[in-house]
Amino acid sequence: MDRILITGGAGFIGSHTADALATRGYRIRILDNLAPPVHTGKWPKYVLGKGYELLRGDVRKKGSWRRALRGVSFVYHLAAYQDQRLDFSTFFETNTVSTAILYELIVGERLPVRKVILASSQFVYGDGEYRCAHSRGTTFYPELRSLGQLKNKQWNILCPHGKKARNIPFREDQRVLPTNSYGLSKFALENAGLRLGKTYNIPTVALRYSIVQGPRQSPRNLYSGALRIFVSQAVAGVPITVYEDGHATRDFVNIDDVVKANLAVLKNSKADFQIFNVGGGRAYDVLDFAREVKEITGSPSEIIVGGFRRTDTRHAVSDISKLKKLGWRPRFDTERSIKTYAKWFLKEGFEKTLDRKNLLGLRKGIPR
Ligand SMILES: NC(=O)c1ccc[n+]([C@@H]2O[C@H](COP(=O)([O-])OP(=O)(O)OC[C@H]3O[C@@H](n4cnc5c(N)ncnc54)[C@H](O)[C@@H]3O)[C@@H](O)[C@H]2O)c1
Repeated sequence: MDRILITGGAGFIGSHTADALATRGYRIRILDNLAPPVHTGKWPKYVLGKGYELLRGDVRKKGSWRRALRGVSFVYHLAAYQDQRLDFSTFFETNTVSTAILYELIVGERLPVRKVILASSQFVYGDGEYRCAHSRGTTFYPELRSLGQLKNKQWNILCPHGKKARNIPFREDQRVLPTNSYGLSKFALENAGLRLGKTYNIPTVALRYSIVQGPRQSPRNLYSGALRIFVSQAVAGVPITVYEDGHATRDFVNIDDVVKANLAVLKNSKADFQIFNVGGGRAYDVLDFAREVKEITGSPSEIIVGGFRRTDTRHAVSDISKLKKLGWRPRFDTERSIKTYAKWFLKEGFEKTLDRKNLLGLRKGIPR
């Protein structure tokens, strides 16, 4: 059976993808550097004892890729530098340059890789496209909301005439406007992979995941978002803190649906050289999501609304009709994500490692 390389396979999406591919008979090789904060330098137990080849290495290094690519038919390139840090170049080295090295080796060493699947992100869209409410049909691409606007609690994006505007779900063929180094590096990796793939006839697919949720999402990874933060706060019994007015929206997607999307594009040649959104298919108010976490965990925590983060987008919802045309559709809602995540969180004993002071600090609206 074919061997599949999964970079970042010790992580959240990679390890679930590995498990699903292994049950379908594929031989799994994982390349991961096990770096903090996601890991503690050791292989997580969920990848051990399953017959996976585990290579510790760094996707920024050609030598690691060379070892990892031996005898591989398919590659999922999921390893990434995430977060909102100021070492801008690390995003490009880990996410973009790594992708260039991958193609350099496939082409230069004539490796028989039959397809590359690249992890991109909804983040490439920034705030996306909006439609003015007062002049129907006029659309615009807003800049990030200004600090002044946020300080004045004007959470909603207004049209250039200062009137109400509505967000349009992100489509793969629209203009993208990444607002940080992470998004920029992801857009660059899509371009590099799709262009080099086309030129050298290496089928390539880029998947723009929305916020993915489920067990194995590292509680130490500050980038892992609302589910980790809300569950940690709920379990610790400290206030659950929701930014802005709570009415920002996100199309959270469950990990099992993301794994199915990863598998759906593997053997389908209609997916080749394409970009697909992978989202939950509906917009959730972040405040409703916090209430759901409180209810499911049975937490006494109160929910506090307020504060903001400088570079947050107001609405992030993807149009998923393109991937649906290939037969994929999301099946699971946030209830499943919260239940499975909270159960795993408690089973692993993460509640014992929570720093209450730090959890309370989460609502200070750290500028990012
Ligand atoms: N989880 C989400 O909500 C989400 C949303 C959009 C896009 N994505 C993308 O999906 C992919 C997987 O994300 P995830 O949530 O599983 O993240 P994760 O942090 O759980 O997994 C990423 C893995 O990559 C490894 N890694 C990081 N730098 C590396 C390097 N230099 N060399 C080798 N390995 C390295 C990490 O150790 C980790 O195991 C990433 O590319 C991410 O940008 C995730």
